[in-house]
Amino acid sequence: MDVDVLDRNVARMQKAALEGGFRLRPHAKSHKCPEIGERQIRAGARGLSVATVSEAEVFADAGIEDLFIASSLWIDRARAPRVRRLAEAVSLRVGVDSVDGARRLGEAVPGGVEVVVEVDCGSRRGGVRPSDAGVVAAAAHDVGLDVVGVFTFPGHGYGHDPGARERGARDEERALGEAVAALREAGVEARVVSGGSTPTVGAWRAGVVDEQRPGVYVFNDATQLAIGTCGPDDLALAAVATVISVPAPDRFVLDAGSKVLGTDRSPWVTGRAHLPGLPGAVVTALWEHHAVVRLPEDTEPPALGSVFTIVPNHVCTAVNLADELYVVQGGEVVDRWAVRARGANT
Ligand SMILES: Cc1ncc(COP(=O)(O)O)c(C=O)c1O
Repeated sequence: MDVDVLDRNVARMQKAALEGGFRLRPHAKSHKCPEIGERQIRAGARGLSVATVSEAEVFADAGIEDLFIASSLWIDRARAPRVRRLAEAVSLRVGVDSVDGARRLGEAVPGGVEVVVEVDCGSRRGGVRPSDAGVVAAAAHDVGLDVVGVFTFPGHGYGHDPGARERGARDEERALGEAVAALREAGVEARVVSGGSTPTVGAWRAGVVDEQRPGVYVFNDATQLAIGTCGPDDLALAAVATVISVPAPDRFVLDAGSKVLGTDRSPWVTGRAHLPGLPGAVVTALWEHHAVVRLPEDTEPPALGSVFTIVPNHVCTAVNLADELYVVQGGEVVDRWAVRARGANT
């Protein structure tokens, strides 16, 4: 991981937030690493978003004091005491998208906790219809929770066409605007209107959304490169892989497979990962410990033992496979940072 590229990505996003006038609450699921979370906070981020209770626990233990579990949380017997402890330890905000979910959260945290209602803006994942946000908010309020606002994830804003980001951002605005109105009708004034993904943050415009939660931007990956939200110089994280086999003139094999790079296919990337050092080469297959690379015509295969960097299609799942990040500066390894929230998926 190139720390200068990482710091530049962090600074660029923070500048966009400052100039745009929105709060930045980066999603820490992309790095799962307290050192990086601290850098984002030092740069000016308001707090961090996380995906799970256990990610929140790791970042709270590391001293991050303002956390938003940006997922509709279902409180079971195991999670209830953990969420209660977190609410006592840090400034905690939790997502909900159902009346039952809100009631369970209210029972789990009798002292109350900040709640943000999740609405769907077109991703068709979780989140209630924006017009139903008021019903969930009212239920949460009735059980003593502090309803602070609404959030959504515009995952459908990914695409080659810059129009996809624009449409995702506008859908997000519309859905969140409608949800704010639904809360108002239920007697709740939204103080937080939270959206964002790495692609759509660039299409943000003033008016409705006041907080953004991009995650991948911190490293970028083959998908962001393919859809044009970053350039080759903005790729901060790659695996290092060695050529272990050259079985045919048009094919060679690297020793990094799905156990290093993850298995995410990306509709926008040609191949299963990206090889910055070999233009035109395509990673055609990932086995557990092998990446098979097809060379362009008339290209000499690399020598056995040659070393390449290889960029995952989706950095968030790849990071979750690594114990540590090797911190590189000026081509030298200067430190190693533990991926402390690795596997913190409950
Ligand atoms: C709820 C939520 N917020 C923010 C993000 C960050 O978006 P991105 O991965 O495009 O950086 C995600 C990503 O999955 C998410 O699920």
